[in-house]
Amino acid sequence: MNAVEVKNNIFWVGVKDWNLVEFHGYSTPHGSTYNSYLIMDDKITLVDGVKEYMSSEQIARIKSKIDFSKLHYIVVNHVEMDHSGNIPELMKLAPQAKIITNTAGKMALEAHFDTAGWQYEIVKTGDSVSLGHKTLEFMTTPMLHWPDSMMTYVKEDKVLLSNDGFGQHYACDTIFVKDVPMALVMQEAKNYFANILFPYCSQAEKALATAGDLGLDIEMIAPSHGCIWSGKEEVSAILNNYALWASGKNAGKAVIVYDSMWGATAKLAETVMSVFQDAGIPVVKHCLAVKNVSEIMVDFLDAKYVCIGNPTLNNQLFPRVAGFLAYMQGLAPKNKKAFAFGSYGWKAGVVKKIQNVYEELGWETVEPFEEKYTPKSDILEKLEARVKEFI
Ligand code: FEO
Repeated sequence: MNAVEVKNNIFWVGVKDWNLVEFHGYSTPHGSTYNSYLIMDDKITLVDGVKEYMSSEQIARIKSKIDFSKLHYIVVNHVEMDHSGNIPELMKLAPQAKIITNTAGKMALEAHFDTAGWQYEIVKTGDSVSLGHKTLEFMTTPMLHWPDSMMTYVKEDKVLLSNDGFGQHYACDTIFVKDVPMALVMQEAKNYFANILFPYCSQAEKALATAGDLGLDIEMIAPSHGCIWSGKEEVSAILNNYALWASGKNAGKAVIVYDSMWGATAKLAETVMSVFQDAGIPVVKHCLAVKNVSEIMVDFLDAKYVCIGNPTLNNQLFPRVAGFLAYMQGLAPKNKKAFAFGSYGWKAGVVKKIQNVYEELGWETVEPFEEKYTPKSDILEKLEARVKEFI
């Protein structure tokens, strides 16, 4: 695939990671892309690098447009390795290039790489740099989702180079949202928000507000993962959904997450689900034996109710349940009503560990429910009554 012009002398020179199946624990069945953009102007500028192992592909794409000796700036919007892993190689090819980043970005580059001799232009929100005919404006978005995270706006073309923001782990044979089913891309954007940005909802709301304060008139959002949102309709759709996801408002649904060894906890989960169904509340059920944690988290954006079930193993949480709790707690969804349930053989009480996580997250909870060995009909009736009360 050649470099692709996305708008007025702004070229996509990124790479597609078709074989990526997981991204630090996040399942990525559609692969991913590490998008990078080459802005052709008096001062030629590259925005973002790629993962180190895909460096040669990006370099070939850049070389199809310019000689590296002509590169004036490299904008580092974010130092996580999927965007800066090959920055040292790029700097070897273009030692004259000046890196544009923010203070936290410079610190992070110096903490990761041997940066001796690198030149910097340090920017902050509201700063701009002229490339000749085009102007870059910068908006730092700290903790969305690293301290160094930043977005770059090309003023004359109304293009926001948003790095992780508005991205999707989605590799396909195009680079534009308009060329693929919108619902599919939006679902991947939602998965991305749930698994990467969920803990930083307030920072996302702040970034949206800052973009408004800066008067950014956005006609294209070109993230560093997945497809590019072009045109007011697509841009509004993703901005509106980000505002919704960051707001913590949910769709009133229920999500049940559980695991099971001999079927007891599965029976409890089935009973919990039937009560929600009978109450007319949309409910989804995920068994951790067959689902990756990241496939489940997206449902937390829509959920008002969370019910987690555990089969006791050696007087502990079942390992997959414990792993899910750790992953979920890190992502820290807010404003949930939560119920814990589980089964045990000879010693009760482990389900309280789930309850503790709920309490640490500040969720509204009720007394957990535990059952010894296989639940009979009278126990399932008790559970039904408890869940009705919980709802
Ligand atoms: Fe796509 Fe935070 O890196």
